[in-house]
Amino acid sequence: MATRIVTITDHKSGKQVECPVYEGEYGAPVIDIKNLYKELGMFTFDLGYGSTAACRSAITYLDGEDGVLLHRGYPIEQLAEKSNFLEVSYLLLHGELPNQVQSDEWTHAIKMHGMTHEHLSRFYQGYRYDAHPMSVLAGVCAAVASYYHASTDIHDPESRMLTARRVIAKMPNLVSKIYRHSSGLPFVYPDNSRDHVENFMYMMFSWPTEPYVANPVALRALNLLFILHADHEQNASTSTVRLAGSAETNPFACVAAGVSTLWGKAHGGANEAVIEMLAEIGEPKNIPKFISRAKDKDDNFRLMGFGHRVYKNYDPRAKIIRQACHDLLQSMNLNLPMFEVAMELERIALEDEYFISRKLYPNVDFYSGLIYQALGIPANMFTPMFALARASGWIAQWMEMMADSDFRIGRPRQLYIGAQRRDYTAVADRG
Ligand code: SDX
Repeated sequence: MATRIVTITDHKSGKQVECPVYEGEYGAPVIDIKNLYKELGMFTFDLGYGSTAACRSAITYLDGEDGVLLHRGYPIEQLAEKSNFLEVSYLLLHGELPNQVQSDEWTHAIKMHGMTHEHLSRFYQGYRYDAHPMSVLAGVCAAVASYYHASTDIHDPESRMLTARRVIAKMPNLVSKIYRHSSGLPFVYPDNSRDHVENFMYMMFSWPTEPYVANPVALRALNLLFILHADHEQNASTSTVRLAGSAETNPFACVAAGVSTLWGKAHGGANEAVIEMLAEIGEPKNIPKFISRAKDKDDNFRLMGFGHRVYKNYDPRAKIIRQACHDLLQSMNLNLPMFEVAMELERIALEDEYFISRKLYPNVDFYSGLIYQALGIPANMFTPMFALARASGWIAQWMEMMADSDFRIGRPRQLYIGAQRRDYTAVADRG
């Protein structure tokens, strides 16, 4: 429902277009410009979509100025403290926290969909043992699409919910197989006597010759990290999943597209890049050199784990992870020199005018890698772990889009700055 009108006037032609303004529950109102091109013959131009709302959504709300993150209205701090990853996945998908009956049915359903087709295991053999895990994950997610393509009706709500359950249930299996393949270890079938996150740890780290007992401290840390990575409004990978889904493609293929986008070190790949950066820094005395590199416009180095398109304050997830990292290292009596370097880097950066003036704070990726490292997870597996968690957000956003009454294919336009019309010339006549 429009709350007011914004009039856009082209002072050159004198033409005007009246655009309705819609208010959400929270956040900036939006100007509906759908008639702009028809009335004024113009497009909007917003590189990086910094001022563009691409959809309407009820799943996640971010307030970048105040560092607020809500999932279906629940503050991330409360979910992090009181919930678990599978329950948060239910919340993202259904909009409400489950009662006991719903929770039991959900848990059972996810367990029942945790296996993958036996032939899929052969797919991993096509990758070198040292292939980057995100390349493998993008490939196997697209491969899973082939098993359900004929049976999935994306316009049927029940078929969509079955797909969502399959995505959430199979990601731990798909991701653990990547690690096993790269380590020369046999694949491990899920053990449904274990809960979702413990089953993942079991598939990742169990040995066929020994009983596997998960470390409860590690399980709590992993549940926390998966909750904090589950969804985050219209970030690059979620926007990719939505755009791919708007073309009515296979939902597992949409997830594969999301995986590919998340791989970038400006996005989910940052957690691995943070560890590489901290290792390169080595010790606190080298920090000033890296700070000056980050400020040097002629150097494309950026401080990995700092900055965010939306948060212009501390990323609330980074605050939670920082404390959890500190507690975990203390409880494991682990001295991780990188953690000291990270805290010193954060202190120095947050006192530096360059970072203060640009409101560059640590983001979710700055500390998450340190926890994964403390849990013995190799750095190149950090982003697949991010993808495992974010798949719940991706498929919830896909479900929401597919159910939207105004569902249509996304098709942005452009500002053309290329050559004027010209005729083809034979190669003999070219200079
Ligand atoms: C994630 O969107 C999401 O929600 C993402 C995410 C999620 O959960 O899905 O939160 C997960 O992707 C977190 C971000 C992880 N990426 C990194 O940590 C990589 C390092 N960060 C930067 O690449 C950057 O901060 C971005 C990509 C995160 C944000 O880029 P923007 O919004 O386009 O920022 P910008 O380029 O407009 O920067 C503004 C200024 C620039 O300087 P000036 O041109 O004004 O002089 O800040 C500078 C930038 O050069 N800057 C940095 C910096 N980040 C921005 N300078 C040094 N180090 C950095 N990290």
